[in-house]
Amino acid sequence: MPRSPRPGLVLLLGSALLVSGCGVSLGGEDGPSIQVYSARSYGAEQAYESFTAQTGIAVEFLNGSDAELRERLEVEGESSEADVYMTVDVANLALAAEQDLLQPVRSPELEAAVPASLRDPSGRWFGLSERARVIIYNTDDVAATDLSTYAALADARWKDRICFRTSTSAYTQSLVASFVAHDGAEKASDVIEGWMANDPQILANDPEIVRTVAAGGCAVGITNHYYVGRELAKDPDLPVGVFFPNQTTTGTHVNISGAGVTRSADDVASATTFLEWLATEGQSLFVDGNFEYPVNRSVEPVEVLKGFGEFTRDELNVGSLGRHNAEAVQLLTDAGYR
Ligand SMILES: [Fe+2]
Repeated sequence: MPRSPRPGLVLLLGSALLVSGCGVSLGGEDGPSIQVYSARSYGAEQAYESFTAQTGIAVEFLNGSDAELRERLEVEGESSEADVYMTVDVANLALAAEQDLLQPVRSPELEAAVPASLRDPSGRWFGLSERARVIIYNTDDVAATDLSTYAALADARWKDRICFRTSTSAYTQSLVASFVAHDGAEKASDVIEGWMANDPQILANDPEIVRTVAAGGCAVGITNHYYVGRELAKDPDLPVGVFFPNQTTTGTHVNISGAGVTRSADDVASATTFLEWLATEGQSLFVDGNFEYPVNRSVEPVEVLKGFGEFTRDELNVGSLGRHNAEAVQLLTDAGYR
């Protein structure tokens, strides 16, 4: 039976939590049950329903924003109902780990299914889907041969022709954190300043960047690959190409959506089983609906992604993106990237 949070908690945390109190329950009343605090907004209900059908473990979700759910875990402490914290972008998982909200899990199954670069070395979080931060381009205006690296978008040929995502997005911050991790803050700063000299349009979200590039409002942009996958699935003739940057240097920046077992979990075994299942039997159901790449390399991605072709990934442990997040935010601010 789902227990209710302490009175006053919902009030304290405001109304932005989409579901509070009883949450959304999948599965029966008897048998094991876990509660997932989730800030992952890409529906994967089919995966969760199959998980319950196969394992008999009921899953209850409490949805909210990343920061709200971390705050809630912090306030609730040991008495929290949460067994799993699930979110997108490693920056959020790394913050949760840093705040000691997650516990280390040893699972040979997870360690075999998830590449080492996409999980915490101490097992506090695991990538469950992978997203590539790609350069997209208007195919009527730009050829793939015009493109090479993220840094090369600082070239003057791209003046007034670029669409970028806001600096407040974890996606932007983690990309810049990867520059810092590879080349140091000074070189990273040169790249951002070069980008800014080209007067990019800074747009509120990735779908808007895809639409603007498709409409010719920008020649190039940087987005997560699945936003293009979604649009191409609706309209295969969309004049937007996907280019995987840094193929001869560091590899294309990849990030994860993922999860960890909370410090307060009272059913660690079922929570771990949930993560293991999502990374193995449930992997396709979990990633395909959002056109994400499986983290499990023995699982094939959906057709539209095969159309994007193979690419070399940045193999930096994504955890280092979390460690360089604050520095990345500072560099963006200093360069006037808003
Ligand atoms: Fe996204």
